[in-house]
Amino acid sequence: GAPVEVDISKLQDGQMIRVEWRGKPVWIVRRSDAVVEELSSFEDQLRDPGSAQPQQPEYAANQTRSIKPEIFVAVGICTHLGCSPTYLPDSFSEQVSGVKAGFFCPCHGSKFDMAGRVFQGVPAPLNLVVPPYMYLDDKRVLVG
Ligand code: FES
Repeated sequence: GAPVEVDISKLQDGQMIRVEWRGKPVWIVRRSDAVVEELSSFEDQLRDPGSAQPQQPEYAANQTRSIKPEIFVAVGICTHLGCSPTYLPDSFSEQVSGVKAGFFCPCHGSKFDMAGRVFQGVPAPLNLVVPPYMYLDDKRVLVG
């Protein structure tokens, strides 16, 4: 599949752009400073907070699982059995108390934070996949 160019210049905090790459949904989300800051506050509840498993390119093997902290790029497919999790920008705290935003898989209840990191105690074994991507400039991301 060819790489997909995405214009992120109009993406506001909390918003998501969905594109298709190699037949898969890919999400591009802009995280607010508050959300980025929050990522370090519940690591003890995550299976792989430091990205030890090879679920992302080397350049995204960090706490935010991204090149730039504010932009999160991920394949929107649950690592359990392949459903597409629901983005809950405002009501994720109903799933994980004290965590404002995240992704919830409706199929069997797996929960992922705003870096796609899976919570403990759910069926999904691994963090969401981060696809290869790069910045063409400040406004354009190339996925693939
Ligand atoms: Fe997502 Fe089973 S496919 S929890």
